[in-house]
Amino acid sequence: MKEGLLTQGSEVTAFETTLAGIVGAKYAVSCSSGTAALHLAGMAINLGKADTVVVPANTFVASANAVRLTGAEVIFCDIDAGTGLMDLTDLRGLLSSDKDNRITAIIPVYFGGQCQNPSDLWTIASDYQLQIIEDACHALGSTYPSNGQQNAIGSCLHSTMCTFSFHPVKTIAMGEGGAITTNSETLYKKLLLLRNHALIRNPDEWASDATHVPVQGRNPSWYYEINEISPNYRASDIHCALGRSQLSRLQTFVKKRRALVSWYDKCVSDLYPHIVPLQKIATCEPAWHLYVLLIDFERYGIKRQDLMAKLKSLGIGSQVHYIPVPWQPYYRKRCPERVLPGTASFFARCLSLPLFPEMNKDDVEFIVTSLKVLLGIKN
Ligand SMILES: Cc1ncc(COP(=O)(O)O)c(C=O)c1O
Repeated sequence: MKEGLLTQGSEVTAFETTLAGIVGAKYAVSCSSGTAALHLAGMAINLGKADTVVVPANTFVASANAVRLTGAEVIFCDIDAGTGLMDLTDLRGLLSSDKDNRITAIIPVYFGGQCQNPSDLWTIASDYQLQIIEDACHALGSTYPSNGQQNAIGSCLHSTMCTFSFHPVKTIAMGEGGAITTNSETLYKKLLLLRNHALIRNPDEWASDATHVPVQGRNPSWYYEINEISPNYRASDIHCALGRSQLSRLQTFVKKRRALVSWYDKCVSDLYPHIVPLQKIATCEPAWHLYVLLIDFERYGIKRQDLMAKLKSLGIGSQVHYIPVPWQPYYRKRCPERVLPGTASFFARCLSLPLFPEMNKDDVEFIVTSLKVLLGIKN
């Protein structure tokens, strides 16, 4: 707050440099939200009406909405009913049946913080010459092995760009905020331009000679022009200062989240197979964003919403991640209907329980014990 500039100042660049360093990417561009990050990434690769983008059905609406904001169409891919992640067999089917080559990009969503090995997806995408925009809004701090070492999600070793959200429920909070990482200088420059109305101040990049504007002399310092339109998606210095301070605590948050998930897993291990946590992917070390249980509600004779209401009366918040996006009225009208058995099975069983770093083992035990009591499970 004591700095001269509250926006477009040095905290923005300091945050971006720190983030790029942490995830191991050449460039990071901050912006006002995860949705803005996805939209900017889509605009940067010139998505438009002629394009179709594959998005998993199990995600927050923003992953698909960002595509639609560029004018491109969305095609929803089924998910694996155990992990909630994109089903690669369904993805391959979608790509091989795309005879007109309308699919130009894939947005894998790292649900809950986990990912399949991004190099597998990169291989599939390369076979079809597709771009990959990772939706890592849940996965800041997650890592995966490649070339004998652990790579951070965001390093873009196996993607065109990677997007993050810093909404308060995420691993780090900026109030509202987001970022895109990339290793491409061209995309980096495009992202900087697009997040700021596509304003061009460099005379070398002007499309016109500016003679139609009655200015005194050529190239006055205040002159700018636009050749395309773009929103203001900037993050302020206030947000970036908070983001940088949060980044310094990232590993503490990640450790805490991992420990809580391990404890949850231990506490529910006697409930298998009727209640199971998300299936773990051996090649990913996730910075868990969500703790999701898959519950056979019918077996326990209870509706999910009734269980959620009972948990709430005990002070335990729970959530459903997510209502499948293709089931939203907007997308039902817009997108080809597809049979999505993995998505339907996952949605019928999923329930997210509280997960945030301030929790402790006692909280986890209280939550799991309460759940068992409400489901009529005897210890
Ligand atoms: C998977 C996913 N993508 C994108 C977003 C959008 O992020 P934001 O809320 O920062 O716009 C979210 C937000 O919850 C999300 O969960």
